[in-house]
Amino acid sequence: MSIRFEQKQGILTLLTDQTAYQMQIGPLGYLLHTYYGRRCEGSFAYLHLERDCGFSPNPYELSYARSFSMDNMPQEYSGSNAGDFRLASVLAETEDGIRGADLRYVNHEIRRGKYSLQGLPAAFAAAGDEDAVETLSVTLRDAASGLEAELLYGVYEKQNVITRAVRFRNAGQKKVKLRKAASACLDLPFGEWDSISFHGRHAMERMPDRGPVRNGIQTVSSGRGASSHQHNPFVILCEHDATEDHGECYGLMLCYSGNHRIEIERDQTDSVRAVAGIGGDGFCWKLEPGESLDTPELLMCFTAEGLDALSGTYHRFIRRSLCRSPWSGKKRPVLLNSWEAAYMDINEDRILQLARDAKKLGVEMLVLDDGWFGSRNDDHRALGDWTPNLEKLPHGLDGLIRRVNDEGLKFGLWIEPEMVSENSDLYRAHPDWVLAVPGRKPAIGRSQMVLDLSRDEVADWMYETVARLLRENHIEYIKWDMNRSITDVYSALLPADRQGEVSHRYMLGLYRVMDRLVSEFPQVLFEGCAGGGGRFDAGILAYFPQIWCSDNTDAVARLLIQQGTSYGYPASALGAHVSASPNHQTGRSTPFGTRAAVAMAGTFGYELDPAKLSPEEQAEVTQQIGRFHEVEELVREGDYHRLTGAENNRYTAWQFVSEDRNESLFTLVLTEPEGNPRPLHLRLKGLDPERAYRVVWAEYAGCRYREEMKLPAPISGAALMYGGITVPRIYGDYPSVQALFRAV
Ligand code: GLA
Repeated sequence: MSIRFEQKQGILTLLTDQTAYQMQIGPLGYLLHTYYGRRCEGSFAYLHLERDCGFSPNPYELSYARSFSMDNMPQEYSGSNAGDFRLASVLAETEDGIRGADLRYVNHEIRRGKYSLQGLPAAFAAAGDEDAVETLSVTLRDAASGLEAELLYGVYEKQNVITRAVRFRNAGQKKVKLRKAASACLDLPFGEWDSISFHGRHAMERMPDRGPVRNGIQTVSSGRGASSHQHNPFVILCEHDATEDHGECYGLMLCYSGNHRIEIERDQTDSVRAVAGIGGDGFCWKLEPGESLDTPELLMCFTAEGLDALSGTYHRFIRRSLCRSPWSGKKRPVLLNSWEAAYMDINEDRILQLARDAKKLGVEMLVLDDGWFGSRNDDHRALGDWTPNLEKLPHGLDGLIRRVNDEGLKFGLWIEPEMVSENSDLYRAHPDWVLAVPGRKPAIGRSQMVLDLSRDEVADWMYETVARLLRENHIEYIKWDMNRSITDVYSALLPADRQGEVSHRYMLGLYRVMDRLVSEFPQVLFEGCAGGGGRFDAGILAYFPQIWCSDNTDAVARLLIQQGTSYGYPASALGAHVSASPNHQTGRSTPFGTRAAVAMAGTFGYELDPAKLSPEEQAEVTQQIGRFHEVEELVREGDYHRLTGAENNRYTAWQFVSEDRNESLFTLVLTEPEGNPRPLHLRLKGLDPERAYRVVWAEYAGCRYREEMKLPAPISGAALMYGGITVPRIYGDYPSVQALFRAV
């Protein structure tokens, strides 16, 4: 049993192999949070001493004692306007103006298996894990409004993950509006913490940002209608001295792709509270009596063993218990994407030429990116008109696909179904289908408008449009793009008092479409995309096993982008391609082999015109693909270790280790070559100290001069991890070294 109830003290404890999480039904039914940390037994209520603290109010019934205050006792799920001045988890308002929520325990239930959520992505119990996952549901109630909050906890005993969500129910007689409905609150009453968040911009996503949690409130949020390039819905709280290999770390990852908000407050007593959930300033959800709303899920993880262990826990969890696509555990085809090869300047001959050239080099799938449909000759038109442009593709999509298949390649297609161009047949037929505020022209992003997915008919049209493409054509891969932020949030069909629901309803519509498509077409490999990595989150990964990591394909810029991404998300989910040099986004030239080494830390493919490569480079492509086949399972299923941190601007190194510790792929890219360089020494990770390893192959790229790697052969895992390796001197512009180690 991973969930225990100790009745006498009213203590509920959630246990995983390495962690314990505890709450107590306290005085007057306040649900207090007593502990989250390393696994240990017993009650932790003793830690939280009641005290009279000035200007912190007491519940009416305890006002003589003055020693119990909601404002300084750690809460499991904070209310509002009822004595706790720290961050609220819920802001509620009844039709007659009662504001706030004073939440008290009603009952709880412990069940086998994992709860699911209405219309939202959520983790599940994988086959074979059914006995190792339990659900706790604790219902709290606000007497004044009748609002109930059912706190849901999924306890993954073996995986050291606890998922959380809240089901709100209006059990009263009056309408209730929720202006804030967080998925979880986590109080850390003691300790000094750093926060690590992942900010960025288009083509520079998920830059790690670490700093101490200071007094006051800091917020990581998106109001862009997508989880965003700017602030990923994932935050780590860790001890000031936590490193990759030691220190306590908490992870808070929202399984949601829309507006989100993760707030962290350090209060008057230096206690820290994190509250995470749906965001967006305009959020307001109306619950009629009897109605309910599920919040998105939060994937929560604790480890005392540093950031490497935290990342590993998320990687394994996402692969095993969140991604339900059968592709999650399968080898993905090495693809060539037409975007950076031809942009919109495409036609059947050009695509077939790309296919032929790619096939010769060992590529397995041709992906036709933007430009194939309607009058799409530039990005000012035609989104919404998802029929092939017959001038470019005279034999239609079907004819093209047959020809590509005849060349021996699979075929994949780019679509952007959530959007519409003003200049499109779809917009001309349904101008009211876009999000637009009456009386105001909507803001335009990349010359396009956003379809109102909160409307069932629009979501149904979208599903039908994509389903038809998949039914009528032999498409084996879809790149699902979304290329602007959402503004002018107003839905023509909803009444005034439900307009605050539009952004979340949009997400529910999107998830419904995605759910139907992946259920009906499990054989299709879907890749998420939003101008690169603008919607790289656990919500999308519940449906699609991979996401295009960034529109920035520069291998050196990618080092930081991919490393930032790796804190939460597995390499199996990270779309990465080798592109041309000089790079189209940064103008930088990098060695071909270094580009391949970096793309091999993801799904691996190409995004260039093979005909423009020299014969030597073409031969190199074949070798690169051969090497990728050798390591792809290791990359997809193995443990990923960062060997260098963001503070290192001289070189970046990482390592994959297979689960059985038989194999390991080591990669290092030198970004700042030095004159008379200092020795470059690293310790490998995750190997079996008892076993001996040999280098199967070592591949150097971009070296104007280099020395040989001098390692004893064989060499013990202990030597590689504790003694480490000294990388031989390499000189050049962004040279790299990759080495595959195998146990002998
Ligand atoms: C977005 C994607 C790119 C490409 C273009 C096509 O920017 O991220 O990879 O598909 O759209 O317009």
